[in-house]
Order: sequence, then C-alpha cells, then structure tokens
Amino acid sequence: MEDQVMELSLRPRYLAEYIGQAQVKENLKIYIEAAKQRKESLDHVLLYGPPGLGKTTLSTIIANELGVNIRTTSGPAIERPGDLAAILTNLQEGDVLFVDEIHRLHRTVEEVLYPAMEDFALDIIIGKGPSARSVRLDLPKFTLIGATTRAGLLSAPLRDRFGVVSRLEYYTEDELTFIVSRTADILGAQIIGEAAREVGKRSRGTPRIANRLLKRVRDYAQVKGDGVITLELARMALKQIQVDDRGLDHIDYKMLESIIRMFNGGPVGLDTIAATIGEESQTIEDVYEPYLLQLGFIQRTPRGRTATRLAYAHLGITPPEDKQ
Ligand code: ADE
Repeated sequence: MEDQVMELSLRPRYLAEYIGQAQVKENLKIYIEAAKQRKESLDHVLLYGPPGLGKTTLSTIIANELGVNIRTTSGPAIERPGDLAAILTNLQEGDVLFVDEIHRLHRTVEEVLYPAMEDFALDIIIGKGPSARSVRLDLPKFTLIGATTRAGLLSAPLRDRFGVVSRLEYYTEDELTFIVSRTADILGAQIIGEAAREVGKRSRGTPRIANRLLKRVRDYAQVKGDGVITLELARMALKQIQVDDRGLDHIDYKMLESIIRMFNGGPVGLDTIAATIGEESQTIEDVYEPYLLQLGFIQRTPRGRTATRLAYAHLGITPPEDKQ
C-alpha cells in the first residue's frame, strides 16, 4: 500500500477505536449525539495541546461520527479573506471545517471568521469609498474545528467563539502500549507484549512518536532478527536511533546539556538555548520543552529555563552545591 494511504488507515476512524483522552472523548460523544438528535450542526470545537496527540485524527472522527464531510486547511494556508470566503461558501450543511494551526490565521482572515462562526454569515463589502456598502451572505451551518499547540496565542474574540474547548493530554504508558499493538496489527508486524510496552514507554506520551518508533523497530527486527519484534531487538533498535528509556532523543540531550554545562543549570533564555543548539525557538517551545517540563527536568522561570535536580540525575551529572 502506498505510504500516505497506509498512514491514513493507521488512524482510528470512530470514537470507539480511539484510545486514550477518555474525558475529551466522553464529552464529545455526548455533544455529537445531542447535535444529531436535534439535527443541528455541532458547536465549534477548539482542540489544543502538544503536537502528535491526535488533534487531526479526532477531527476526522468527529466528522465521521456526525456523518458529514470534512474540509481540511491550516491557518497559514488561508492568506486572504477571499480564500476563506471561497472555502466557506463551498461547504455543505453540517460539514466540518478543520483549521490546523489556527493561532496562525491572519487578522484580516480572522475577522471574516467571526460572523461566519456566530451567525453563519459572510459580510462582503461591495465598492469603495462613500458608495461602498456591505452585503450579508448566508452560509450553510457548519462546525469549525480549530487545532493549536498554542491556545494562549489565540485572540480572545476567536477563543470565545468556540462552544467546546478541549485540551489533549499526554498519553499513559498503558494507552501507548495499546496503540503500538494496534498499529503493529494493522501493519502486519509481530510484536511481543513487552516490546510494545518498551516502545510505548519511550514515546514521550505521544502516539505519533509511538507509531514512528514502531516502524523503525520493525525495520530493525526485519533486518537483524527474524521479523518478530522482541524486547531485546526493540531495545537495540531504540539505542541505535538514540532514544533513551524516558524517550529523550539527542536534541533533548543537547538542550539539557547546554543548560547544565554552558549556563550552569540556568536560568537561561529560550532564544539563547535555541541559538546554542541550533534549533528554532518555536520548535523547542512547542515540541521539546512541554515534555521536559512534564518530566520535571526543566522549569520555566521569569528569567529563563533552569535544569532541575532530576535532569542532573538523569544525565548522571553531579549538581552544583546550591542545587543539591
Ligand atoms: N493511532 C494514533 N493515535 C491513536 C489513538 N489515540 N487511538 C488509536 N490509534 C491511534
């Protein structure tokens, strides 16, 4: 099967197949059921949380459960108000419009979205100068699903227009183990239970990473073993790709080591860390930092990031006197 097609079919299509995020799922189930009973469109939904936790997957599931089409786009892809108008006028009654990275919408585009979300209407200005007038165009009722890693960057008027706001959390080891086993099944890969748990444990709470690691481990087991993914082969493969027992990779190490060795444990500003290790500040903030914070390896202070005693211990470095 073509890679992209396979990638899509790895994703669960209905809520019943979706593992984890119990609270979010339970709530959505009720809202979807209620909207269907009333034959109304579902209220607009904002999904936020770290990357790879299933925001896109959930949106597709919501559309499937509602029995409607989904139109997918992203904040930066909608350049002008006219682009959004074209998308909105092409929706069918009840459809889902999924906007990824919604915090990156242009202000001018956002303004078109307000009446669309609130009144299912598009205000079009015709003409220029004193003779300009505004015409209101009715839109089909639709559900906007916005996804973002940065709910804090959303403007208040936009945030206020979502009836449902759900935060996705990191997955537990059990949930990730389940996801790894499920994906292995779909891929037709044989994996020992303990190996699935090992991959789950090292996936930094993130299904997207779990599935990626599983594929690399599968490659390794195929070439170095007889294809069956055993615990030993999984560990060897993960060592080979430099993913440690807590799921930290070489970039996490570079980041922690730079805070500890170059800046004496911090505090040090995000941009300084970024420049030192040669990564984008944005990537560090969205991808690396949330998990290190979650593990309690770094702390955010008003003066910058500091490495905690747990980080020193994990790296096997003796903390300076004042941190012991
Ligand atoms: N694959 C990726 N994320 C998943 C999830 N939450 N449940 C089941 N399979 C998944």
